[in-house]
Amino acid sequence: MQDDIQSVLISEQQLADAVKKLGEQISRDYADRNLMMVSVLKGSVVFMADLMRAISVPASIDFMSVTSYGKGVKTSGVVRIIKDLDEELDGRDILIVEDILDSGMTLSYLKEHIMAKGARSIRIATLLDKPERRRVDIHPDYSCFSVPDEFVVGYGLDYAEKYRNLPYVGILKPCVYEK
Ligand code: XMP
Ligand code: MG
Repeated sequence: MQDDIQSVLISEQQLADAVKKLGEQISRDYADRNLMMVSVLKGSVVFMADLMRAISVPASIDFMSVTSYGKGVKTSGVVRIIKDLDEELDGRDILIVEDILDSGMTLSYLKEHIMAKGARSIRIATLLDKPERRRVDIHPDYSCFSVPDEFVVGYGLDYAEKYRNLPYVGILKPCVYEK
């Protein structure tokens, strides 16, 4: 697994420090709110698990599963819901927790979908932001790291369902997906 990684982009320590800091900021911002964290499966589970424990105000959680990528490295542009939310959203302040904001197609679709379900507010917390590849006008409210236009894996992020369990974020060797 390690042999497929070109270089470590964000170390375990850098991830831990950034997530702790973000948790503190979200705790301040949501002190008087009705926070519900929505993790977008599967890429954001590791970030979600760490971030929720760094948040000190009451928070409920839910999960959604969407797909737009299949096995490739580029978005198909079509977002499909595989698993919708279980909880009612009326009066809730939703924080969408994502692994990476890339083209923005997934999150702009999700934002509209969640707003239509009656949420009071919606914000986006993404671990990684890849602004060079944006195709729609969407910005994260909270973002830990900006990354270059390389395919990154680890800390939840995958290529063809592999590498999610790497404890750091690394750049995948292009030869792995150019085969
Ligand atoms: P969009 O393009 O809709 O994509 O913003 C968001 C989703 O695409 C996946 N994605 C990646 N996954 N390394 C990955 O492992 C990447 O560099 C990458 N870029 C996009 C990811 O699932 C994200 O939620
Ligand atoms: Mg994702």
